[in-house]
Amino acid sequence: MNTDFPADEFMRQALQKRESEGALRKLHSPEGLIDFCSNDYYGLAHSPEFSARVAAAAEGFNSGSGGSRLLVGNTALAEETEREIAAIFKADAALIYSSGYAANVGFFQAVAQRNATVLYDEFIHASVRDGIRLSTAKAHSFAHNDTDDLRRKLARCSGLVFVAVESVYSMDGDEAPLAEMAECCRKAGAQLVVDEAHGTGVYFPGLTAELGLTGEVFARLHTFGKAGGVHGAAWLGSELLRNYLINFSRSFIYTTAPSPHSVIALRESCRFMQQNHGMLKLELQQRIHFFRQTAANYPQLHLLPSQSAIQALLLPGNHKAREVAEKLRSNGFDVRPVLAPTVPAGTERIRVCIHTHNTEKEINDFLKCAALWF
Ligand SMILES: Cc1ncc(COP(=O)(O)O)c(C=O)c1O
Repeated sequence: MNTDFPADEFMRQALQKRESEGALRKLHSPEGLIDFCSNDYYGLAHSPEFSARVAAAAEGFNSGSGGSRLLVGNTALAEETEREIAAIFKADAALIYSSGYAANVGFFQAVAQRNATVLYDEFIHASVRDGIRLSTAKAHSFAHNDTDDLRRKLARCSGLVFVAVESVYSMDGDEAPLAEMAECCRKAGAQLVVDEAHGTGVYFPGLTAELGLTGEVFARLHTFGKAGGVHGAAWLGSELLRNYLINFSRSFIYTTAPSPHSVIALRESCRFMQQNHGMLKLELQQRIHFFRQTAANYPQLHLLPSQSAIQALLLPGNHKAREVAEKLRSNGFDVRPVLAPTVPAGTERIRVCIHTHNTEKEINDFLKCAALWF
């Protein structure tokens, strides 16, 4: 079919512009490459043992939910799983969403009302930004991880204020100074909201809980598509918050409920992380340490400070970052460039994710190869 639709012209132009900026996105299939790219930090998403465990647990359960949670899609399984997640993640209540994206969009849309203000870290994830856009609140960013800037901005706010941060930032891999931020929020009477997408399971059950700050945080988002190896997410907070989201969060209300199979996978992921996090965390920390220690042998590599599984090799310029990522892929290492505007221009990078399944040899070989192109 060769029909030219009226909308084709603007789409063609937008794609050409992206191409000329070196920022055109493409789908890749990473088969056969060594994984330095996925968020599957513990290798659960590709573990035959974990798949078998999920399949066995899901036996006899339906593959679809048949409707939204408020229509026919609710099940005893979903509610029991939410109670179990709340207990594991040390909260009064949990509410499952199909994804972290849907959870963030539906949370900020619902809680950030007309007279409220959302102060968000300038590096906050796109899903939080989209949720803020759907809300009627005022919103301002503060400088990344900068508690002085946060304090200044809090002092200018009146009414209800939400402060949105990530526990571990998805592009830089650094952590938010959560204890200091919680203190700023307490003093200003603001509500801290922590997206734990990249902290879930890497810290157990998350950074907020590891730091003993659950009582200071209004709501925490845990997502299960990263270290959890499955997909889906849950907001953790009070029963009141859960009830409110059930009533007002559009991405929870107007969507088909996750299938019982998905809920079982999510439950098994939480149980697995609860049973094994000590050993998994130790193995991951060893690999991260080895990666950073080995990278220090190559002065041309500009590594951002990060103790997490997300490591960023700075390589300014979209074209350059893309070219080097392609060279690394053609040498067998799966990495992706992160380009402007996803990160600020001048901070383009190769984002490297470290996993428990990356051997020391793989890390050595990868860094040796990377050093050739920097
Ligand atoms: C910080 C952060 N929040 C939310 C999400 C969205 O989670 P999900 O992939 O489950 O939609 C992501 C994933 O990219 C993320 O990095």
